[in-house]
Amino acid sequence: REPIRVALLGCGTVGTEVLRLLQGRPEEFAARTGAPVQVTGVAVRRPHKHPNVPEHLLTTDAAALVDGDVDVVVELIGGIEPARSLLLRALRGGKSVVTGNKALLAEHGSELYSAADEAGVDIYFEAAVAGAIPLLRPLRESLAGDRINRVMGIVNGTTNYILSAMDSTGAGYSETLDEAGRLGYAEADPTADVDGFDAAAKATILAALAFHTRVAATDVYREGISAVRPGDIAAAKSLDRTVKLLAICERVVAEDGTESVSARVHPAMIPRDHPLASVGGAFNAVFVEAEAAGSLMFYGQGAGGAPSASAVLGDLVAVARNLVVAGKGPRESAHAKLPVQPMGAT
Ligand code: HSE
Repeated sequence: REPIRVALLGCGTVGTEVLRLLQGRPEEFAARTGAPVQVTGVAVRRPHKHPNVPEHLLTTDAAALVDGDVDVVVELIGGIEPARSLLLRALRGGKSVVTGNKALLAEHGSELYSAADEAGVDIYFEAAVAGAIPLLRPLRESLAGDRINRVMGIVNGTTNYILSAMDSTGAGYSETLDEAGRLGYAEADPTADVDGFDAAAKATILAALAFHTRVAATDVYREGISAVRPGDIAAAKSLDRTVKLLAICERVVAEDGTESVSARVHPAMIPRDHPLASVGGAFNAVFVEAEAAGSLMFYGQGAGGAPSASAVLGDLVAVARNLVVAGKGPRESAHAKLPVQPMGAT
């Protein structure tokens, strides 16, 4: 059987987990996709910093890896360049893409989606918003027949970790930020978290998917948590409230019936009995209000290596299955081989 060949660009917190999980359970991935999944190379800037990656896979030449004999490019470098050029190169070369790069999708999503459409290949990005939580595919697929009116929630783990710690222990802002960095939640440049850029990029992606429109990063009002002081948290407490950084995307209907989309990110005081108030640590939670479905809540780990790797691997399986079904890979039953317990057994 011909394997599905995967190039991994970037091997930081998430990439390391993706590689570990992929290499740890190769038979399961083969069974689920219908073909073995093989990593053909890992592009990094400094190979000596990756002693756990097999040496023959490491390369500093990401462009050559993308141009080589691969079916899927998984991009976990982050940031705009060189990620943008490499992904356009991959898509135009007929390779499917899995990425967790929210900043890139927020800024250049349209360009990348068009390149994928033109080449007839996939671009999946579940890890870009809310880490492990299946949220984008439900918006794109499960709710595609409904009409979404509002998406609102906590989509940045680092700031939620900081605000939760400040609320529960009265700790200061900078010590909790350092701890969030050590736990692998914070972005390489943590101002992306604390100034709300990360949440705003995610709001851009959510609004575009929920309302089937193009939203630019500059359309999103953004206010981070760097101005939130222990005194603000204490004031919220005295009102039986807590402070959370919220991303809110909603359909706005004017008096004359004209519709538009509003997207914003800012700290908000919410009542302690509100479900979002109990979302602690690096967890994320997102409410979706749809016309027919009513209210839905998505909750789970929104940051960290393994949770984000789970979303990347789910996308990789989906892309690999599409390749297999489209005849670009071998056909093989994707049914699980796990035995099923006889009825009545406990
Ligand atoms: N820095 C991000 C966060 C990582 O804290 O949520 C996940 O996108």
